[in-house]
Amino acid sequence: MFFDHVPKSNLVCAHRGARSIAPENTMLALETARNCGAHCWETDVRLAGSGELIIFHDDTLERCSDIASRRDAAALKPWKVESFSLEELRRLDAGSWFLETDPYGTVAGAEAVSGAAGCRIPLLREVLDFSRKYTFPVNLEIKDLHGPEGDTDVVDRVLDMIHETGTMELVLLSSFRHEYLHRARALSPDITIAVLATGQHPQDLVSYLKGFSAAAYHPDRKICDDTLVRELVREGFRVNSWTVNDMDRACAMQAAGAGVITDWPQRLV
Ligand code: G3P
Ligand code: MG
Repeated sequence: MFFDHVPKSNLVCAHRGARSIAPENTMLALETARNCGAHCWETDVRLAGSGELIIFHDDTLERCSDIASRRDAAALKPWKVESFSLEELRRLDAGSWFLETDPYGTVAGAEAVSGAAGCRIPLLREVLDFSRKYTFPVNLEIKDLHGPEGDTDVVDRVLDMIHETGTMELVLLSSFRHEYLHRARALSPDITIAVLATGQHPQDLVSYLKGFSAAAYHPDRKICDDTLVRELVREGFRVNSWTVNDMDRACAMQAAGAGVITDWPQRLV
């Protein structure tokens, strides 16, 4: 399972790839995460309008692509991912925005890796093939959070792709939409699950996690404290908090027994 492929303590997971030095959720970010020594990476999967599984964080394309400069797409504003076919999505430049906006100051500081311009939106298949090729574990977070209740089709497709690519051992599946995690567990006794939480913890947390046969809990750093980490670790769960970019806090969390999902994996490994 996923946790057999990462260290038992001081886990460093590269959030959306090494997103402080490469455009998030691209193959370049994935390669950079691996090159800088992260133990695994976290990424976001969702459906293209034509039904394929792609890697992209936001519901809309504006922040992380060049869609706003494409005159033929003006009428489709606000550019929801689901309004575009895979073919249209793959034509976009998903890297130049990083050079233009320099969100972490690493372009100006010459810390960012080269090759951002022209990066494409990856397919889930591509990143899973990479994971298998290099035995590089991946925390797959399923987005598409706003569909009708009961519509868990994206989960079935993700599980099919994990089977097709032979990556069951290397995937940790998570989502804020816990209905998806129940569906994943119903589909597969083998998939490793992390329950994602923000704002507040589910009630009766330990029983709640056991309800998914979850291996891990992924709380927002704002609701994650050392007592919680120690209690869950004692109960046999792994805890990985996000997004932990303060290095002192990251080390304190690791000392308490948590892993960290960070935009700056290169500073922690
Ligand atoms: O999976 C942890 C973290 O990625 C959740 O938040 O918005 O960065 O996908 P977000
Ligand atoms: Mg995520």
